[in-house]
Amino acid sequence: MSPIQSMFAEVPATYELVNHVLTFGLDVLWRRKAVRIAAQAGGTKWIDMCTGTGEVAMYLSRLAPVGTEIYAVDFCESMMEKARRKPRAKSIRFVVADIKALPFEDETFDLVTMAFATRSINVNEEILIQSFAEYCRVLKRGGRFVNLETSRPPFWPIRKYFDFHVKLFVEQIGGRISGSRNAYGFLARTIPRFYTAEALAGIMRQAGFEEVTFKRLLFGAAAIHQAVKR
Ligand SMILES: C[S@@+](CC[C@H](N)C(=O)[O-])C[C@H]1O[C@@H](n2cnc3c(N)ncnc32)[C@H](O)[C@@H]1O
Repeated sequence: MSPIQSMFAEVPATYELVNHVLTFGLDVLWRRKAVRIAAQAGGTKWIDMCTGTGEVAMYLSRLAPVGTEIYAVDFCESMMEKARRKPRAKSIRFVVADIKALPFEDETFDLVTMAFATRSINVNEEILIQSFAEYCRVLKRGGRFVNLETSRPPFWPIRKYFDFHVKLFVEQIGGRISGSRNAYGFLARTIPRFYTAEALAGIMRQAGFEEVTFKRLLFGAAAIHQAVKR
């Protein structure tokens, strides 16, 4: 088991609750917004990468036109086990796999989504580019990638306030509710070191995506990126 797999294996029971507490419930609104944007991709095969407890996959299944096949991938079985127990889970095909080597043919999907997992797969920039290139490989031409992640607010005072919030609350509160200082220490360390929205857009272009755009959320504390495979 990789360190990231064992870290996520510690948190499934409280994962969603901690997210809601730390973001004052905004994570729910952000995921829904990302999914509303993503659902405009159309097509018949959608996939949610690093699905965890499957929140995005469930929202996708609500908005998907009849006949759409929805897949959800994660390499942490215990996170996906929680997703499998949700009411809409029957309409989703769960696949245990590492996103760096997806068990799908080239040009299989019309839509790839991912939420709050870019920091986990960003072992380094090269691996992140390779991972996004793998998403590009499994997308059909004209297919879309929609990514939701925390981001770096462009304005210094907001960035400083945001870093203060993360330092003060994330490890303490997340660690206390979940019982895993390890997981929430990781979150507290990776958020302030993450890319700006512009830099993440550049990484998507390097991975082969085109027409990369982004929408900042809450003054840039998070961002939804969209990209197209041409
Ligand atoms: C912070 S959680 C995000 C879960 C979910 N997408 C959400 O919106 O809450 C990150 C997830 O990414 C998964 N993950 C991290 N690296 C992965 C990899 N290389 N392959 C597959 N899953 C991975 C973890 O197991 C974990 O479930």
